[in-house]
Amino acid sequence: MDGRRVNSCLLFAVALDGCEVTTVEGLSGDGEQPHRLQQAFLERDAFQCGYCTPGQICSAAGMLAEAAAGHPSHVTDPAAPSGEPVPLDRGEIRERLSGNLCRCGAYPRIAEAVEDVIR
Ligand code: FES
Repeated sequence: MDGRRVNSCLLFAVALDGCEVTTVEGLSGDGEQPHRLQQAFLERDAFQCGYCTPGQICSAAGMLAEAAAGHPSHVTDPAAPSGEPVPLDRGEIRERLSGNLCRCGAYPRIAEAVEDVIR
């Protein structure tokens, strides 16, 4: 919502009046080519039932933007320079996506898909 990750299940749609909302369907822009995260999830087989996948992909997109903007997470080195892009290792990825639950346990492949996009 307005470029920030939000818990969509906790928001009333009417409260978003005037906000810019991006869903997994709108990530790729033109809708012709999948977003690079969507492609990586397909290539890594990073889902089982797929129920959590839209949220995982949207959260990953937001997480990449936040790290690039220098937003630290709970596992970011406190000595890291403030405001600089945060390097995303497996620990950073897991921490930053930890709010999205996957009942199928596809976490390892989700992390691999995100790593593919970072490389
Ligand atoms: S793929 Fe089934 S809940 Fe995540």
